[in-house]
Amino acid sequence: MMLINLEAEKGTFLENLQIVRGPYLQVGSESSIIIRWATNAAVHGKVWYSTNPDRLDLTQAETTITCDHTLKLTELTPDTKYYYAIGTTTGVQAGGTEDYFFVTAPSQDLAPEQVRPLRILVLGDAGRGNDIAASVRDGYLKFTGTRHTDLWLMLGDNAYDTGTYEEYQRGIFEMYPQFLRSSVLWTAIGNHDGGSADSLLQTGPYYELFTMPTRGEAGGVPSGTAAYYSFDYGNIHFICLDSYGSDRADHPPQAGDGAERPLRDRPSDSSLEEYRTPEGAMLTWLARDVAASDKDWKIAFWHHPPYTKGSHDSDTEIELIEMREHALPILEAAGVDLVLGGHSHSYERSYLIDGHYGTSDTFTQEMKKDGGSGREDESTPYQKPLTAPQAGTVYIVAGTSALADQVSPHPAMYTSLSIPGSLVLDVHDKRLDVKFIDDQGEVQDYFTMKKTIV
Ligand SMILES: [Fe+2]
Repeated sequence: MMLINLEAEKGTFLENLQIVRGPYLQVGSESSIIIRWATNAAVHGKVWYSTNPDRLDLTQAETTITCDHTLKLTELTPDTKYYYAIGTTTGVQAGGTEDYFFVTAPSQDLAPEQVRPLRILVLGDAGRGNDIAASVRDGYLKFTGTRHTDLWLMLGDNAYDTGTYEEYQRGIFEMYPQFLRSSVLWTAIGNHDGGSADSLLQTGPYYELFTMPTRGEAGGVPSGTAAYYSFDYGNIHFICLDSYGSDRADHPPQAGDGAERPLRDRPSDSSLEEYRTPEGAMLTWLARDVAASDKDWKIAFWHHPPYTKGSHDSDTEIELIEMREHALPILEAAGVDLVLGGHSHSYERSYLIDGHYGTSDTFTQEMKKDGGSGREDESTPYQKPLTAPQAGTVYIVAGTSALADQVSPHPAMYTSLSIPGSLVLDVHDKRLDVKFIDDQGEVQDYFTMKKTIV
């Protein structure tokens, strides 16, 4: 499909001007979205958009020239499909076809009969740019078919080995162009991303390439930093934490664990130095953020998982231990439903559990709020009151989107698999269906969680 009205826009391009990254979608809300892309020369970027694919008559343009284009579209209608094209003030370069579109987030607080199903894709440790990543991507595409992906999460280690621009190009921008241009991406930072980025200083490719809602632009309490943030989507509250880049100065990254990151000079404000402590800036913000949310579902994600016996061990590694001991009590007291992580290259999925903050040998049967599979067809779904604290959380490691390593069973886990794949979350009102999809598009694990109003 060609856009008739855009023909007139096609003027004389700068010679050899090329799009070298994107377009990709960031910080989508019900009324706004950010479209980013990069060109090989500095130009005035421009976006054309509309709900009518044959007439993209709304525009937004940059006022200064740049290679790295970021345009925020505002005053959008909730839950609405918009088509778009990108280019320069001299003409259209890409888009204007049916596969260049985005869908704004649903309105908050809809009546139950107005709530539509939401689909979320989750990739972990995906940034290798290898054949496995491509097959996992294609497996998901086979699974989802024509069903649109409302948003997608990356759980860190989004670019191997040290998070350089070239590695993001190969690991993300050349691997997932279809997802990038039509579904908003929300990222967490991993240790490999941290090889070239500094969370305290907000510098490096990870912080240059991705835009996060530091001021609560998409809901949630403003975090004031791109290292961790929250946002709402429909009836879901998402929380992204930084389990790596905010290392305490006396706990440098473990040798042999991904990137070797030299400790840099820290800001003189000592309150910035210990994010993973209960009194630190991140977890203080977290407590305020989760307490303020009244969404039906609360889903937290970060890179280093609190429970794993895969290529990493949550009994021995400091980031995993500290996140378990310090973040989990806050999240469970706030009734968080799902916690997603990567780092280990395995798929590990817990029972519905509560109150396990020690090493794996301290896990007890009493910590299982439901020790079944959560599968509706063979047992019963996990059930939780809508807002109750300490009612159980499911913890998932989903770090096999580009590599699958051996895994041993952790006592909190219902299942542990060494299979390449991706995670799919389907949320429809008070029902959550979770599926682990392999690289052939087949479901390898699944469960359901339901919220009851008491
Ligand atoms: Fe990692």
